[in-house]
Order: sequence, then C-alpha cells, then structure tokens
Amino acid sequence: MEQKINDIKNQILKAISKVRDNGELFDLEKKFLGRKSEFVSILKNLKDLAPEERKKIGELANKTKGEILEIIKSKRQEVKNENLNFNKERIDVTIPGKKSGIGHLNPISIVRREIEDIFTSMGFEIADGPEVETEFYNFDSLNIPKSHPARDMQDTFFMKNSDLAMRSQTSAIQARYMQKNKPPFKIIAPGRCFRNEATDTTHEHTFHQFEALVVGDNINVGNLKHVAEVFFSQFFHQDIKIRLRPSYFPFVEPGFEYDISCTMCAGVGCSACKGNGWLELGGAGMVNQNVFVAAGYPRNKYTGFAWGIGLERLAMMKYKIDDVRLFHSGDLRFIRQF
Ligand code: PHE
Repeated sequence: MEQKINDIKNQILKAISKVRDNGELFDLEKKFLGRKSEFVSILKNLKDLAPEERKKIGELANKTKGEILEIIKSKRQEVKNENLNFNKERIDVTIPGKKSGIGHLNPISIVRREIEDIFTSMGFEIADGPEVETEFYNFDSLNIPKSHPARDMQDTFFMKNSDLAMRSQTSAIQARYMQKNKPPFKIIAPGRCFRNEATDTTHEHTFHQFEALVVGDNINVGNLKHVAEVFFSQFFHQDIKIRLRPSYFPFVEPGFEYDISCTMCAGVGCSACKGNGWLELGGAGMVNQNVFVAAGYPRNKYTGFAWGIGLERLAMMKYKIDDVRLFHSGDLRFIRQF
C-alpha cells in the first residue's frame, strides 16, 4: 500500500512537468485525485485495514495528498505566469503601421474642382444638366435643326424610338439654364459627354467638357478673351495668352477655335506645340441670337460669349498624361499617381 501511494506521487511528479496549461493541469488533477482515482479508492478502503496499518497508511496518504495539492498549486501559478508572459506579448510601438488603402479622386474630378474654384471665385455659378438629353437641348436649341448638316459634326449616340440622345456636348446646358434664368449671368457647366467615336490616344467615347457662358447687355469678344486668359493663367499657374481663329459652330456667331500660348515653352516654340508656340484647345464664340430666341429671350436684346473645353485635355496637359484612355481604364497604378 505504501509503495502504491509513493508510486502515484512519482507518477504525478513525472506527469506534471509536461503540463503546459490550465486545461492539462485540470485533467491531471482529475486523473490522480478525482473521485474515480486510485488515490481516492485507497482512502476509501482505509476502513478495511487493521487499526495499526490504517493509522500508518492514513497518515501517509493524507501527507501525500497535501504534497500533491501543493505541487498542483505551484504548477497552477507557473502556468498562469507563463500565460502572462509579457515578453511574448510585447508590442513594439516603433514598428511602422500597415496602411490601409483609401480611395481618392480621379484626376478628372481634381481638375473639375479646381476649375470650379477658379470660376466661382470670379462670381460664376455652376450649372448642371442631364447626361441623357433631348434632341431639343442637345441640337435644336443650339441652332442645329434636324436636317442641318451640322448635326453630323458630332457622332451622337441616339436612343431608339425616342427623341433622346446621350449628351454630345455641355452646350446642351445653355438653353436649359437660360429658360430658367434672366441675364445678366455668368455660368460654367461641367459634365460628362458621349460621342460614337473610335478611341485612340486623344479620343474617347465618354469624356468631360465644361462650358462657360456669360450673357448680359454688353458682352463682347474682348470679355471672352479676357476671362479665358484669367482662367487659363490661374489654372496653369503662369501667364497664358489666348488666340482666336475664325471657325464655325452653329450656336455662335462669330465662332472661333481658340489656342493658348504653349504651357511648356511660353510661346517660344517646342515639341509640345510643334514649334509654333500655340496649343489648340477648343471652340468659342459670341452666342448666336437664334440660341437666345430658342431659350425664350427677345432677339438682339442681349449679347453673350460661350466656350467649350475638354477636361481630359486640360488634365492631360497639366499632368503630362499621354493617353486619354487611361482616365477610364480603372487601372489603379494610374489613378494612385494623383
Ligand atoms: N460644343 C462645342 C464642341 O463640343 C464647343 C463650343 C462651345 C464651341 C461653345 C463654341 C461655343 O465642339
């Protein structure tokens, strides 16, 4: 019997050194001291022993139980300290953090906001219109009647069996705004436009324009030139000159194409401007009186100027981007550069 008790103690001592956590310790305690353990059955059977023997074994068993409980107790503390091992859990606050990616603006949006800031600081209002437009606003109101060859100047996406089209130019916003507002006013109208075009490095079927429209009693070409020069100079952070060349757009008379002095060489001549010092930018002109009449204004009461320009073209010049298709490519390597 004595031998047995000492054996159990030795077994426990051996087993306990392998215990790594509280769960294992609990199992071990149950196995050696639990209700069904050998140790407890020894205690239960003490009553069957002779009185002498009972005393001796009983004392030994109680002493051993006390020792075992003591061992388990100190092991429990050890396991607890192990779990609180600060070294293992130490956090190095000097390790650089992991950056989680956040979205940001497309260069087109950046440029649009910049343009809006410049114009609102000059007292311009920002006008808006739908991307799916009626033929009236996209064409008729702009002095482009149905059978007129000028309708073919832009390859428009027409909607089947309706008079709707994807807006091919932000000029479509002109009559919309004028029907609701009386001169004098100064607006810009930025927006997405669509044309049924083959794409290449400078053409996209989906692109952005903004229209500038100023109408009042005495607006003239000088005003057009001045506002354009102020705007482009602020936008490109340098002195920009404007050059007008005669051109034709049905909604302006006279109509122009306008160039700006080269932003790379300030008009001296370089590869960007093919040596001539000017960069072609867009269309402009004095609002055709027919446009005023279509919008509900009396003929010859007001004068105004308008111009249109591509946002992609401006962004490409500003950030030196060489392919317009990149804007809508969805390529994050492109977008993350801005
Ligand atoms: N809407 C014209 C275009 O998209 C540009 C333009 C605007 C021309 C205003 C003259 C006046 O080509």
